[in-house]
Amino acid sequence: MQSDIELTVDGQRRAVTVDHRTTLLDALRDRLGVTVPKKGCDHGQCGSCTVLLDGRRHLSCLSLAVALDGSEVVTADGLGAAGEEHPVTRAFLDHDGFQCGYCTPGQICSAVGMLDEVKQGHPSHVTEDLVGDVELTDEEIRERLSGNLCRCGAYPNIVDAVRAAAGA
Ligand code: FES
Ligand code: FES
Repeated sequence: MQSDIELTVDGQRRAVTVDHRTTLLDALRDRLGVTVPKKGCDHGQCGSCTVLLDGRRHLSCLSLAVALDGSEVVTADGLGAAGEEHPVTRAFLDHDGFQCGYCTPGQICSAVGMLDEVKQGHPSHVTEDLVGDVELTDEEIRERLSGNLCRCGAYPNIVDAVRAAAGA
């Protein structure tokens, strides 16, 4: 069974007909040609497919596109103003937060999402003070990005990049 849906992807309204079994990741990559989110595990375990869905970070391999009609999807490519890198993207470049780059679009989307969660005061598993402001320690960064795996092991530089982007 198929349905016609519309998604806004990186600011562009896109119409697509999807089989109801199509994941958001496959709809983006295979149907719309948006190959920025990467398919690593296809099982919600590596984070390489992370996008921002209606402003929240989201594993695009774990949801069905048909359920997301009308949603707004932002990939690492759609971050930042026109012609200007997003501060998190810039920080990854400045701090050498990648090697092969395969995990990087997901890392960047996840970092943008988690910095917003920190700003909103959402605690993580390692947050000690559940009432006050969240202090963005390296432990917090590592815990909040623990769903994003990097086979190259660029973790120390990723932490540096996120800390710098947060101005910490
Ligand atoms: S491809 Fe989605 S989490 Fe690995
Ligand atoms: S930079 Fe290669 S997998 Fe992370």
